[in-house]
Amino acid sequence: MAASPRTVLISGCSSGIGLELAVQLAHDPRQCYQVVATMRDLGKKEALEASAGSALGKTLTVAQLDVCNDDSVAQCLSHIPGGDVDVLVNNAGVGLVGPLEGLSITTMQNVFDTNFFGAIRLVKAVLPSMKKRRRGHIVVVSSVMGLQGVMFNDVYAASKFALEGFFESLAIQLLQFNIFVSLVEPGPVITEFEGKLLAQISTSEFPGADPDTLAFFRDLYLPASAELFRSVGQSPQDVAKVIVKVIGATRPPLRRQTNARYAPLTVLRAVDPSGGLYVRMAHRLLFRWPGLLSLGLRCLAGGCFPKRVWPG
Ligand SMILES: NC(=O)c1ccc[n+]([C@@H]2O[C@H](COP(=O)([O-])OP(=O)(O)OC[C@H]3O[C@@H](n4cnc5c(N)ncnc54)[C@H](OP(=O)(O)O)[C@@H]3O)[C@@H](O)[C@H]2O)c1
Repeated sequence: MAASPRTVLISGCSSGIGLELAVQLAHDPRQCYQVVATMRDLGKKEALEASAGSALGKTLTVAQLDVCNDDSVAQCLSHIPGGDVDVLVNNAGVGLVGPLEGLSITTMQNVFDTNFFGAIRLVKAVLPSMKKRRRGHIVVVSSVMGLQGVMFNDVYAASKFALEGFFESLAIQLLQFNIFVSLVEPGPVITEFEGKLLAQISTSEFPGADPDTLAFFRDLYLPASAELFRSVGQSPQDVAKVIVKVIGATRPPLRRQTNARYAPLTVLRAVDPSGGLYVRMAHRLLFRWPGLLSLGLRCLAGGCFPKRVWPG
């Protein structure tokens, strides 16, 4: 007898990685998954529904879920029979870049409320049923910025570091309940994420930031970031493929990076536990040798490292 499909709840499916993942799982040829693709604003469901095609209403349903709202989470789970989620994918997230002095505490708190507490809110809601059934898988779309700080992304990186520490700790307890935790760590991904950030920057004057810091942000960081996205940016389809493999694994990994071309930038941290090598190297590349950084990125884009996606 064929096993019954696993119920997969994904947050943030109005665009990007969440949308692609929902569609790929819903079109799984073995029909292993019943996907509940959620978004905070159902007014944005058109793109998902168009991509879902024949899976809509069969292996994929769309539901409202704002990860910052307890009532919305409870309401969404109340529509899932028994509230039984087999795989939870914490994907919803927002970015924040800019000089710290020019960002309000409220703006920073919103990043943590979405990226960190949003994931915890969902985990708290699905855990009792997973623990009772002694099975489950919690997937978190983290980032390479959950492993490595990046200039002017201080608060966003902190929210992803927080996720990494939280879920690594939780993973130990949950193994006893046969529940797995996986942190997926993409590098740059070409989604609406970057566009939303650029829109936020274009309307912000960063009051309180001094002229030198503002100049570093606008003249050094922004061009380097754009070049990074252009050279090693992955498609959301490629990232979703990696997550599909993680969800399908018999023993899912705790951590999985998605982009082999980004690996040279994370390797420094791995080879130097003191962290000083990474900080000095990043500082030199940005402030002293921007030409070398640009050349290195062009080399990566040109295929010095052949594979974009792990596993292929
Ligand atoms: N793009 C990258 O370079 C990159 C790299 C590494 C990791 N990531 C991570 O990947 C995840 C997905 O991002 P993406 O690149 O696919 O960007 P995206 O296209 O902007 O998708 C983000 C999704 O999160 C949703 N969202 C934001 N706040 C929410 C809330 N309170 N409740 C529910 N949903 C909410 C957005 O909904 P709305 O449409 O309503 O805003 C959108 O559906 C994020 O966690 C991000 O941190 C992205």
